[in-house]
Amino acid sequence: MPEIAVSVRPGPPEETAADTRVLGLFDGEHLPEPELRKLVELGEAKSELRKVAVAHEQAPGGGQRRVLIAGLGKRESFDGEAARVAAASVAARAKELGAISLSWALPDDGAEVGLVEGTLLKLYSFDRFKSKRNQDGGLEALEIAGPGVSEEAANGARVAASAVNRARELQNLPSNVADPLFLAGRAEEIAATHETVELELFDREAIVQRGMGAFAAVAQGTHAEPRLIVLRYSGGTRGPHLGFVGKAVTFDTGGISLKPGGKMAEMKFDMSGGAAVLESLDAIATLGLPVTVTAIVPATENMPSGHAVKPGDIVTALNGKTIEINNTDAEGRLILADALSYAVEQGVERIVDLATLTGAIIVALGSTHAGLFANDDDWFAEVEAAGAATGELGWRLPLHDETAKLIEGTYADLNNAPEGRKASSITAAHFLSNFVGDVPWVHMDIAGTAWELGRPYVGKGASGFGVRTLIELARRTADS
Ligand code: BES
Ligand code: MN
Ligand code: ZN
Repeated sequence: MPEIAVSVRPGPPEETAADTRVLGLFDGEHLPEPELRKLVELGEAKSELRKVAVAHEQAPGGGQRRVLIAGLGKRESFDGEAARVAAASVAARAKELGAISLSWALPDDGAEVGLVEGTLLKLYSFDRFKSKRNQDGGLEALEIAGPGVSEEAANGARVAASAVNRARELQNLPSNVADPLFLAGRAEEIAATHETVELELFDREAIVQRGMGAFAAVAQGTHAEPRLIVLRYSGGTRGPHLGFVGKAVTFDTGGISLKPGGKMAEMKFDMSGGAAVLESLDAIATLGLPVTVTAIVPATENMPSGHAVKPGDIVTALNGKTIEINNTDAEGRLILADALSYAVEQGVERIVDLATLTGAIIVALGSTHAGLFANDDDWFAEVEAAGAATGELGWRLPLHDETAKLIEGTYADLNNAPEGRKASSITAAHFLSNFVGDVPWVHMDIAGTAWELGRPYVGKGASGFGVRTLIELARRTADS
């Protein structure tokens, strides 16, 4: 998909050269232009969020031009999320109408971010494998106009939304294309683009040699070459050294503990955490945020085969802990065990991991909130706030000594899948907590939000969930 050019113009919105301009309408407020005001009074243009009315007016240079009137709801409750939602409705209508250039009159201070994100996220589509895809037309330029409009905010939002869309592309690509080597290739591209980013890749042999026995066990069942992908971004010394860790199982069959066939195709999305980590790092480097980030993405398939790890097998993780693999479908926590231990070895001072880790989190929270787990209240508060600011919501679930006991092994230190699936998302988080030492850590279980998010601006497919949270977190770390 060609990128949509984003610009700002501090001049009067009506002086735009765009073929379509957009005016927001708040509850109980009027529009200044008499012709448009009439549409509001007639009830044709509505102030309700997601409503869009179409009108025409005389363009400054002569000829007709389109005006869209977008409902924005109540001024008091207009926030980033409302801006994203309104922008998505407008983008959909603009596309239908064949608009090439769109100019939004900035309706409120700070609305640039939501308007840019909502537009770019809504217009992403994954159709590269359709022979009959629509290749002509489409929006080419988005302008935000009005006094006080911030170039920096609009540009930041463009970079973030493009990163989300790239993560969505990685998610949507099927596993026969986006295998671990493909993800490693994307990491190479990122490192080649930025002088501030260094790449290290561990192949199968290096993973085994390094003592990453848990990761190696998952990877041993597949012909696809696994990679531990490590990207190091040095943008400055401000704030703590951040460690972002993302699960990238490019296809999860369950292994010998094979999943049922029904929705197995969805398991190409089991690399969503890794995709978010890779693309957020690229965005952070593009923005040149003054922080230090180490991004770690263990990438492998989880397959059944004659080489595959078997239920009951015992392995040793990088930090020396032994694990009884009672269910080969609880593979995410195994590859993360070694990735988290490696992050700690690398001296990171704050960790966030993102993983499509448990089906149970979908049962508990649906697609509205990601499940959050933490070993540190302050770090949790920062991650939650960054998520809330981007509309990527999270809800904390408890870690308790009693639930921690459920993952004690019978024959080894830990058991990767306790019987009965009691507190399944929580025990998965307890398992991970064994590999972060004393480093403040937040685990985001994104199994319910990585796709089927169902927000007006991302719909049902891959959502790129977490990309904007990680960028926002880096911004806040730099400012703190
Ligand atoms: N990738 C799955 C979790 C998942 C399931 C994500 C459905 C999205 C939709 C994960 O590897 C898994 O299989 N988890 C098991 C753990 C269980 C065996 C303890 C689960 O949640 O069923
Ligand atoms: Mn699994
Ligand atoms: Zn999985």
